[in-house]
Amino acid sequence: MISWFNKKEVIFPGNDIKTDIHSHLIPGIDDGSQSMEESIALLRKFEEMGYSHLITTPHIMQDYFANTSDIIQNGLSQLRSEALKNKINLSIDAAAEYYLDEFLFEKLNKNDQLLTFGNQYLLFEMSFMSVSPYLNEFIFKLRSKGIRPILAHAERYSYYFGKVDAIEDLIERGVFIQLNINSLTGYYTKPVRKLAEQLIDRQLVHFIGTDCHRMDHLDRINEASSLKYFKKALNLPLLNRTL
Ligand SMILES: [Fe+2]
Repeated sequence: MISWFNKKEVIFPGNDIKTDIHSHLIPGIDDGSQSMEESIALLRKFEEMGYSHLITTPHIMQDYFANTSDIIQNGLSQLRSEALKNKINLSIDAAAEYYLDEFLFEKLNKNDQLLTFGNQYLLFEMSFMSVSPYLNEFIFKLRSKGIRPILAHAERYSYYFGKVDAIEDLIERGVFIQLNINSLTGYYTKPVRKLAEQLIDRQLVHFIGTDCHRMDHLDRINEASSLKYFKKALNLPLLNRTL
């Protein structure tokens, strides 16, 4: 039984949820890990934190990280074989964190194969400053193909600050919500932390993720483990546990 009130109690996130669904661990293909050595150190840390399964999600963003399914699959194969050589006991899969812009929308319209995981989940993000003009049609089209969109770090978009109802509306239209554990520590900004706490209070969180780009992110997540809202998040029926 998890106590929310015992502040000294530290729960390593992986011990509970086992599967992380958001990270940047394939070296050299986005703004996450920049070398295989760094990736192996991160994998070791995930293992120490109690995780057993990682679904790593490199950025696919036309102008900055023009990754393809092939690039990601090749990177995954190399990461898996290095993890094996280094006796790391984690099962590792890969999908992507898609940036919602005209290029992604076009891919969807052309019926290109998109990288999903688990029960047809697709992780996507938007600009932090303005909502994507493609959002509504994107959700509708994905859902009509049986794909379940997950909005990455929903609490980080400034246009949703103070607008929890707008996020609830997305959920009603079939979007799943992922929260970054580090949002609860104030690692980003105060308004991000506030929205993260509101989403937890209103039980509007389906997945939590590390969004790990580097070791600093995992160190801070370990600090988050003693926070009241982190424990409260773990009391939600998180879908990480189904993967
Ligand atoms: Fe990310």
